[in-house]
Amino acid sequence: MERETPVLADDSKLYRLKWEWEKEKTGYSDLLSFGTADMDYRTPEPVLKALDDVIAAGHLGYPMVKEEFYQAIRNHYMEYGWDINAISSVAQHIGIYPAAWNAIDAFTSPGDKITILTPVHFCFRRMIVLNDRIPIECPLIYSNGRYSIDYHALDACLGSGSRMLWLCNPHNPIGCAWKKDELTEIAQLAEKHGTIILTDDVYSGLLFPGAEYTPIASLSKEISYRTITLCSTSKCYNTTGLKHAYAIIENPEMFKTYSESLDRQDLGYGMNIMGMAAVIAAYGECDEWLHSLMEEISRKHRFVTDFINENIPALSVTESNASYFAWIDMRSLGMNAKEIAYRLETEEHMVFENGADLGKGGAGFIRMNLATSDMNIERGMERLKAFSGRHLR
Ligand SMILES: Cc1ncc(COP(=O)(O)O)c(C=O)c1O
Repeated sequence: MERETPVLADDSKLYRLKWEWEKEKTGYSDLLSFGTADMDYRTPEPVLKALDDVIAAGHLGYPMVKEEFYQAIRNHYMEYGWDINAISSVAQHIGIYPAAWNAIDAFTSPGDKITILTPVHFCFRRMIVLNDRIPIECPLIYSNGRYSIDYHALDACLGSGSRMLWLCNPHNPIGCAWKKDELTEIAQLAEKHGTIILTDDVYSGLLFPGAEYTPIASLSKEISYRTITLCSTSKCYNTTGLKHAYAIIENPEMFKTYSESLDRQDLGYGMNIMGMAAVIAAYGECDEWLHSLMEEISRKHRFVTDFINENIPALSVTESNASYFAWIDMRSLGMNAKEIAYRLETEEHMVFENGADLGKGGAGFIRMNLATSDMNIERGMERLKAFSGRHLR
């Protein structure tokens, strides 16, 4: 069979937050949108076909959860050495953050502390604060273009009484799939302090060639028994618009507590019929597609890194092994960190995620989404060069 490779979507009929909405909002028809974490690639054909099949069956009523759905998830995690009983440990949801909300609701109380490793996606902090919990920021260490975990600081954060440690693996925005030994140290600290681990693994399939993903819960039964793992097909297979995700909770007591929280919102049955079909097709038939995608993304990351090294040496790109982000250090511009993204938008008509919004350690960085055409990336680099040329002191 011919290898399925990712192709850019024909955008003539699309109406997306990432492009059409951003253009409407800014009023710039020449806008380059590198912000929203969505890809410009067409969703893989097996997933589209699976959705077509649901439509063709002619009934969009409450679906029963098929055995194949659980089997697809079990097989998927077997690839990472984690053998789960999916039927008793997988709960479906309508998105990663809503699923995180239920974890926060189920396992913490207002006033409880939740530790996050920053910089991290702004929703982490926002969700903690808006739900009257207290975010404890544990900044990652940035040195020589790469990030590592400050275990000493993490020990102190968890020791200060954090009920929960909310991880992101691979970590958005830095594009790092945490290594087994790093996760082991994190898990040991969680065990030492009796902390529950909530891990958002939504980017776990987006690995550069040679990189590895380890689900923290796969390290041991003890660790799994204090962990809620969140995932979906959304970021890896371009299905964000389906609003479907799932949580894996192997500890039966925790699964029960989480399910009770779902019940309080009537989220316990009648899940997204399209989301389930997408999981079965994505995990069963799209490995080649994903490998090809990540070969392309890592090539684009290399291009951006080389371009910046050669043309804008005052900036630098963080080393990455996962996701479709380039995390760019702009601190040498000496610009007010809160203003960087705003000025890039108004002066160069480019949208990025501003690191200043992502917690301690994020100020002065921008996150660039590389899941777009080479042409957009090349144009973006030229505009970044002009911008930096004007602002470098
Ligand atoms: C780390 C992380 N988790 C979750 C989400 C949201 O995922 P979804 O909308 O597919 O549930 C995002 C979106 O950007 C994200 O970056």
